[in-house]
Amino acid sequence: MRFNGMTSQELRIKFLKFFESKGHTIIPSASLVPREENQSVLFTTAGMHPLVPYFFGKNHLGGKRIANSQKCIRTADIDDVGDNRHLTFFEMMGNWSFGDYFKKEAIEWSFEFLTGKEWLNMDPKRIYVTVFRGEDGIPCDDEAIEIWKNVFSKIGMNIRVAGKDEIMKNDIRIIPLGVDDNFWIAGETGPCGPDTEIFYDTRPEEGILEGNFSDFVKNFRLIEIWNNVFMEYEKKLKIKNAKLKIEEAKEYEYIKLKQRNVDTGMGLERTVAVLNGKETVFETDIFEPIFDAISKVCGKKYNENPEIKKAFRIIADHIKASAFIICDGVMPSNIGRGYVLRRLIRRAVRYSRTLELELNFKLIIDAIIDIYKVQYPELDLKSPEIIKAIRQEVDKFNKTLERGLKEFERTVSAVFGDTTMREEKDAREMAYDALKKISGKIAFDLYQTYGFPIEMIKELAREYGLAVDEIEFNIELEKHQEVSRKGAEVKFGGHGMEVESLKSKVENFEEIEKKKKLHTATHLLHQALRIILGVTVGQMGSDINSERLRFDFTFDRKMTPEEIKLVEELINEQIRKNLNVKYEEMLFEKAVHLGALAFFKEKYPDRVKVYSVGGFSKEVCGGPHVENTSEMGEFKIQKEESSSAGVRRIKAILR
Ligand code: ALA
Repeated sequence: MRFNGMTSQELRIKFLKFFESKGHTIIPSASLVPREENQSVLFTTAGMHPLVPYFFGKNHLGGKRIANSQKCIRTADIDDVGDNRHLTFFEMMGNWSFGDYFKKEAIEWSFEFLTGKEWLNMDPKRIYVTVFRGEDGIPCDDEAIEIWKNVFSKIGMNIRVAGKDEIMKNDIRIIPLGVDDNFWIAGETGPCGPDTEIFYDTRPEEGILEGNFSDFVKNFRLIEIWNNVFMEYEKKLKIKNAKLKIEEAKEYEYIKLKQRNVDTGMGLERTVAVLNGKETVFETDIFEPIFDAISKVCGKKYNENPEIKKAFRIIADHIKASAFIICDGVMPSNIGRGYVLRRLIRRAVRYSRTLELELNFKLIIDAIIDIYKVQYPELDLKSPEIIKAIRQEVDKFNKTLERGLKEFERTVSAVFGDTTMREEKDAREMAYDALKKISGKIAFDLYQTYGFPIEMIKELAREYGLAVDEIEFNIELEKHQEVSRKGAEVKFGGHGMEVESLKSKVENFEEIEKKKKLHTATHLLHQALRIILGVTVGQMGSDINSERLRFDFTFDRKMTPEEIKLVEELINEQIRKNLNVKYEEMLFEKAVHLGALAFFKEKYPDRVKVYSVGGFSKEVCGGPHVENTSEMGEFKIQKEESSSAGVRRIKAILR
């Protein structure tokens, strides 16, 4: 063992033991792939994500106090991995209270775990906290401030609270901040609340903290290690009065949940790093054995130069994330999660060239499994599948990578002349180059012929100080898709979800038009149900004929007559607003990131259409739809009934 300090496994065990001693049930990590009813994101991104229903009052088999270490994937920053802090795979340790304990216990236990001799034994003088100072109609968290003051005063530290200027000096240890920093929510709407974030001073030798709080965060002297969220609200789209006049679509309100919950998240990688006095998460037992394996395969050292270091980090993070994703049942493809996986593996392969490394991933994957197999035995059990899937994808890409890179370099120098790499250029040259774009046609050829994901083409281009004409790329992609669709049947609801041949089944043009209207009504219904019944509503199925729409959705009880009326009124109000229906094409991931509803796992292509009805509804869909809601008539629900356990069915018409 080359690690003398606390290992990641020791940290996990301490965390879970501590919370077990406080009456928590320890549960295993949920899958990285969210369950059916929570399909609006590609991967589990936080410990609370699989637990959302319990904040609303659903009974958890483990009781009201739960703790675990949850595997998470965040894909927004894939292209930043390689610097000293971004990761795609990470673990979040957390403790939860579902309507049980609240702020006092949560804060006191956090402090006890961090500073207790038998726990992490951190020096309390190195701990600083932020709290919510009140904004958006939600008051300042005075309660959390008082609790923190007491916690510190019990060990003889009389601490003070920073003012609005957020300036640190003397005994200031509590920094109240606004909504952007200290109010936590997983997406645009859902359970949420004020939080208190705990920071660790990584360089006390630099003297007393004097100056702006955010400067110390920016220069990594203060590192956030733990977030305690006090979830007592649900953020909903606002309905101004009982008559449901939604004047502006994007207005929100905070509604108190039936119960007060606690949701915490402690980053395992960061905490291990700071506990061992390391500057980056890469200098820990969660990465070093992987670097050793890479070193063994390529004969180079992690620390040899910055370029090699970057390649080691990218390969280690991406292959680790890929192993976990495959383990949870996803295979490389051009769709949704499979596409993210493909991007990760292909980016790792590209960087393996920096190391002149014929990626013998087996040794590297073995090292990864060795690190995690105690905590995640499924990884070990599935190692043959993981190795096979990664090897196949690597082989596939290797076949075209070399030729593709040559082609890239050839075209770039043919079009732009001398193509010295970016680092060697001065600022003037770079500013000039930034105006240069690789044409969409060239980019599309690299994508189509050599399997280069568009993000990788952009990254390559950046290395030469060039941009890519993405608009033109999208046009090329569209053209290509049109060609491959040519001769195929007209699809309805699109993307293979509700594929129905209109041409063969419906001769009559008018019937197609009717169906279009009901299809747009289905989108309005989906959004209206989420507004009236809450965000736990998700589409489970949809069927449209020329007479009526049928819509199945997750919801655990019968709707009341009032709710049905509210949904109808809300939809008719939108119809009367004469809203335009438009679509935009984008990457599936981006669509999800923008909050478009997308409820079908694994069935979307990499680029999707996002249809919006005014500012009211936004949904991934293949169309077709009406152009304006004025074409639609009046919406009426005819029936609301049970479809299966936890799923309701609505039949509705336009008249
Ligand atoms: N859910 C909170 C977070 O991810 C704890 O920061």
